[in-house]
Amino acid sequence: MKKARRNFLKKGTLGIVSAPFLSIGSCAATENKTSIKTLPVIISTWDAGKEANEEAFKILKSGGTSLDAVEKGVMLAEADDTNQYVGDGGKPDRDGYVTLDACIMDWKGNAGSVCFLENIVHPISVARRVMEKTPHVMLVGEGAKQFAIEEGFKTKNLLTQQSKMDWEEWKKTAEYRPVINTENHDTIGMLAIDEKGNISGACTTSGMAFKMRGRVGDSPIIGAGLFVDNEVGGAVATGLGEAVLRTLTSFLCVEFMRNGKTPQEACKMAIERLTQKHKNYKDFQVGIIALDKNGNTGAFAIQEGFTYALSAEGKNEVSHSESMI
Ligand code: GLY
Repeated sequence: MKKARRNFLKKGTLGIVSAPFLSIGSCAATENKTSIKTLPVIISTWDAGKEANEEAFKILKSGGTSLDAVEKGVMLAEADDTNQYVGDGGKPDRDGYVTLDACIMDWKGNAGSVCFLENIVHPISVARRVMEKTPHVMLVGEGAKQFAIEEGFKTKNLLTQQSKMDWEEWKKTAEYRPVINTENHDTIGMLAIDEKGNISGACTTSGMAFKMRGRVGDSPIIGAGLFVDNEVGGAVATGLGEAVLRTLTSFLCVEFMRNGKTPQEACKMAIERLTQKHKNYKDFQVGIIALDKNGNTGAFAIQEGFTYALSAEGKNEVSHSESMI
């Protein structure tokens, strides 16, 4: 029997072995449907998740927690100024300002978030500091920036030449139209479960390109862009934030898992709920990934073309999710 499995079975109180003692609404019903995977397992949104997973895996293997892993993993995308949808180099709002949103959650149910943050390359790390060093969950705009500077973060102009040129081009049309699977990444979201069975999640983005100034999407909102409940699992959403906000897709997905659905079934049901509430769902993309307490994963999207990276059992691979259309 593999070590992680042995440890997991020994733990009992959180695992499926003790499922009969858990209350109604627990993950008990997943017992018959999914197997226990060798831990750790890491899953991230889009192709950029592959490199992020590698980094997260290294952190876990060198003794880091799942929280360290998800933070350091998504920081790669934030620092990559050729990635125009996350962190440095993100596309600006319609007035030419790059504004960033991010949130993070750990296995203890702690959460931290920042939104409308400017000039700081790593919003995910500021979100973690909010979680660990303040009595609050969310800081916004100038206050978030001031807090980041007090915490030693350096400021930087995040608007690259490429993003500036794209903005100049956009101004000629100035249309708000969701672009499906833009450049194959719009938000990086990551879920990781370590060998102790502790799940953490992170989600970070520069949001919708050329949005109205002040617009905030789903990514920094706990329950919309990200939700983790260590008794059950976690979920992260990507795509059109407005649709995710209206249906709290990540929270809903975790609740479906709590009520016995596998991560794959839960992802599909969460997307189905979202499409039921949005008649125009064929015009935009939303994707979701999920991870349960046993290391099982799921991914589903409205449209074809949503990819996710899965690091599990010695492999780290990008796959296309199932989709509704
Ligand atoms: N999902 C990213 C956003 O809508 O801001």
